[in-house]
Amino acid sequence: MALALGVLISGRGSNLLAILDAIQEGRLDAIVKVVVSNKANAVGLERAKERGIQAVFMDPKPFAQKENSREAYDVAVGTLLQEHGVECVVLAGYMRIVTPALIRMFTWKMLNIHPSLLPAFPGLDAQRQALEWGAKVSGCSVHFVTEGVDEGPIICQAAVAINEEDTVETLSARILEQEHQLYPQALQLMAQGRLQLEGRTVQVLQ
Ligand code: GAR
Repeated sequence: MALALGVLISGRGSNLLAILDAIQEGRLDAIVKVVVSNKANAVGLERAKERGIQAVFMDPKPFAQKENSREAYDVAVGTLLQEHGVECVVLAGYMRIVTPALIRMFTWKMLNIHPSLLPAFPGLDAQRQALEWGAKVSGCSVHFVTEGVDEGPIICQAAVAINEEDTVETLSARILEQEHQLYPQALQLMAQGRLQLEGRTVQVLQ
């Protein structure tokens, strides 16, 4: 049975499209049930709709008045995902901190992609951080989402060499190419039930 995915985005959605391509080409045994964005103008929402995928803007504003507004928003997002039969949540350029309220609804069923070799350069602007640090190699990481930001067990990584001439744009573009390969591969391992946690190490079963 295809793994039922819910994809959370905030922007352009190129990782989402790479995932949809992998599904279409038979490299990923999954189905995207719904795409959710916290930004109304996320280009990825339109791209998803063009491909016949349900795409929803969930406005954080109405929740801002409430007590525990972040948790309340996350419970609403989680409920929507559950209503669509989502088994596995895919953070793909979702630029909002996910609270434990949502993580607990999908324990070990939520993945994120981050544009650095974690644990180096967590948080925002990872590519800029790598350049400013003077790193010679960076890359991208797919990891399980746990309560610490960008801290969960690493599923797979790809390295990208940094050149002297690199700018944030050129480095980001080369990392993004790797992201588009890596995320569908990680999700396929998930779909095949081949990811096993041992402590904070993820073993890939043969
Ligand atoms: C990607 O580079 C992704 O790794 C990054 O945002 C970009 C989204 O691109 N995510 C983070 O920085 C999360 N901390 P996309 O919308 O085209 O997939």
